[in-house]
Amino acid sequence: MYTEFAVREARGVSPIYERLSLAISGDETILALLEAVPASKRQPNLLLGVVRLLGGPVDDPAAFHEFTVANWRAVQAELRTHATQTNEAGRCALLLPVLASLPQPLALLEVGAAAGVNLYPDRYAYRYGGHEVGSRGPVLDCALTGTAPPTRLPEVVWRAGLDLNPLDVTDPWDLAWLEALIWPEHQHRRDRLREAAAIAAADPPTLIRGDLVDDLPSLVAQAPPGATLVVFHTSVLYQVPAPRRAAFAQLAGGLPGHWVAVEAPTVLAYRGLPPPPDQAFYNVLALDGKPLAWTRGHGEAMAWFA
Ligand SMILES: C[S@@+](CC[C@H](N)C(=O)[O-])C[C@H]1O[C@@H](n2cnc3c(N)ncnc32)[C@H](O)[C@@H]1O
Repeated sequence: MYTEFAVREARGVSPIYERLSLAISGDETILALLEAVPASKRQPNLLLGVVRLLGGPVDDPAAFHEFTVANWRAVQAELRTHATQTNEAGRCALLLPVLASLPQPLALLEVGAAAGVNLYPDRYAYRYGGHEVGSRGPVLDCALTGTAPPTRLPEVVWRAGLDLNPLDVTDPWDLAWLEALIWPEHQHRRDRLREAAAIAAADPPTLIRGDLVDDLPSLVAQAPPGATLVVFHTSVLYQVPAPRRAAFAQLAGGLPGHWVAVEAPTVLAYRGLPPPPDQAFYNVLALDGKPLAWTRGHGEAMAWFA
């Protein structure tokens, strides 16, 4: 898991995490400690985020080892009470081409919303190469190939999110956790999280604590008539057990309105996907079950193929 994370996710994106994750993959002591926590709590992003939350070093593998072993009791406690809830506003740049193409106005319902910063795609600015859309809020850069960039922002008249554990952008501890989840070199992502969090805090969304299968229908029922309902999710289903994923896909595919997914092709399978652009880790953007584009994890690039 740590080798895979280093090579396919961190390489070329976070040299610090690539080096550290490779070191952990050969660190028998830390691997043995991780064996003592549930399998769902062993993933790299969670361990590295927890150590950073506790003030531990991540830029030197030896110092990381020393800190993590010495503070294992605290690290383990945080691993057990936290989950990876990276809330990445940059992913709105992946959603915009689809959202802008749908009949307006929109009623947005995000599944696995974390703190809900992706519920404000109409309040951010976007830069697809030299093409800019919107002029307020953080600028979200995305290298887009294979299709023309969107030319308008969506008009959003309703927004609501569903999450097993909604985070509160006005709570300093929740924000500290969201920041600890951002990879060390990515100051631009910390900056845009703060900007996006301020936008969300000024007009907080409805965030419901609940499960994406059991509690989705009742939230859908609250969407206003007269707006195009868009149920969407980004980087959520890898956290959901396979049978529940299948139940969710069936439910989402049968809802009124549209279903937009940005998920790994290993968790939502599609027929006839073209080969990805390269060996890096890509998600797939899909509209109503039809795959449209390969997308990078934090919204930094998308290659349209439909
Ligand atoms: C990696 S975060 C992604 C957050 C957000 N979608 C984004 O892209 O910025 C995944 C989120 O899905 C939520 N989640 C996982 N399983 C869920 C479930 N069964 N029902 C609702 N939310 C769930 C987690 O609590 C977490 O906040």
